Amino acid sequence: DVIDVRPLTSKGLFTYDPGFVSTAACESQITYIDGDKGILLHRGYPIEQLAEKSDYLEVCYLLLNGELPTEQQKAVFNNTISNHTMVHEQLSAFFKGFRRDAHPMAIMCGVVGALSAFYHDSLDINNAHHREVCAYRLIAKMPTLAAMCYKYSIGQPFMHPRNDNTYAENFLRMMFSTPCADYVANPILVRAMDRIFTLHADHEQNASTSTVRLAGSSGANPFACIAAGIAALWGPAHGGANEAVLTMLEEIGDEANIPEFIQRAKDPEDSFRLMGFGHRVYRNFDPRAKVMKKTCDEVLGELGIENDPLLKIATRLEEIALEDPYFVERKLYPNVDFYSGIILKAIGIPTSMFTVIFALSRTIGWISHWNEFHSSPNRIGRPRQLYTGAKKRDYPSA
Ligand code: ACO
Repeated sequence: DVIDVRPLTSKGLFTYDPGFVSTAACESQITYIDGDKGILLHRGYPIEQLAEKSDYLEVCYLLLNGELPTEQQKAVFNNTISNHTMVHEQLSAFFKGFRRDAHPMAIMCGVVGALSAFYHDSLDINNAHHREVCAYRLIAKMPTLAAMCYKYSIGQPFMHPRNDNTYAENFLRMMFSTPCADYVANPILVRAMDRIFTLHADHEQNASTSTVRLAGSSGANPFACIAAGIAALWGPAHGGANEAVLTMLEEIGDEANIPEFIQRAKDPEDSFRLMGFGHRVYRNFDPRAKVMKKTCDEVLGELGIENDPLLKIATRLEEIALEDPYFVERKLYPNVDFYSGIILKAIGIPTSMFTVIFALSRTIGWISHWNEFHSSPNRIGRPRQLYTGAKKRDYPSA
């Protein structure tokens, strides 16, 4: 009932679709979602299988190139990414311009956009090789920049990337090592980190990806487009939800308080929503949430904290909501970020870094869509509006 279709003079139909509920803005071959059945496929492969059998860098290759790599292609790709992990020394100086207590997403918006100022050599967006190099640089540098945000916030020196580590291991090491002590990564935690990256890698035309495509449609350089995606991701209705879930679970504080929060979420007069619940496309279980829950159990089991109070609250909250007619009728299920925060917290990552980790993971989706846009005939994106303002009137005479 929100769709108002009206004739537009000579240009065919004019469709009014607030929130783009039923308007496709592009064709894409990257990711398929069936929200009613809870299916998510990347280049045809189910997310559950990729999370189980693949790893993040292989998924990056798949999203960018359309096919899984051979063993040799994978080795070359991993090596190429390793060779781009450092960031320019001058870029490190940017961090000092931010307050130490700045939100890391605010810093990410700035420093990722600033990459445009350093890598002039590959900015011909009509050249497929240049586009490929931009993608490699972004995939490689995001963990370095993300870890630098964290180190800056706690006043510790930046740690350089290490090319003999895997992608996830390298990230954790840059986060938690110091010049005095090397972080020894637990393989279960490394696997969980890699899985979080994989589960967030792409999700077709969500708000941030659409933002990247729209910014890209003007011919803007890719680093600036990804910075626009980071800004769009930050909100609590999108990528900011993982941070909001943990804050909510901490606020609930005790299983006994769950009914009060459920009641608030149902109250039309209260703007509170159950964070990590609901999705624009899924009207069924988010398939990523199931893998996330399993990973959460593995991590807490490994660390011997299965009785984590937040996990208990989350599990009980999910049970209660899934039996409540309000959530059942609206088909509101846990989404990918309902359990990710508990895993990240157990790994030792502070809440303020959660959305940064989402941005790091989603960079491959953003750049794959940006590349797809530029690889085929395209035109600038230019949504229309339904004007509801004042009628033409004359400027008052003196
Ligand atoms: N808690 C309580 N009620 C909810 C919730 C929720 N989390 N989500 C939706 N609803 C209700 C709405 O109030 C509305 O009820 P009504 O029909 O009585 O008015 C109905 O369900 C439909 O909701 P919409 O807002 O129309 O759904 P929309 O598709 O626009 O929004 C969204 C989807 C933003 C994800 C929403 O479900 C939400 O705010 N969830 C919480 C935030 C969150 O977890 N975001 C992460 C999304 S996944 C991601 O980006 C990784």
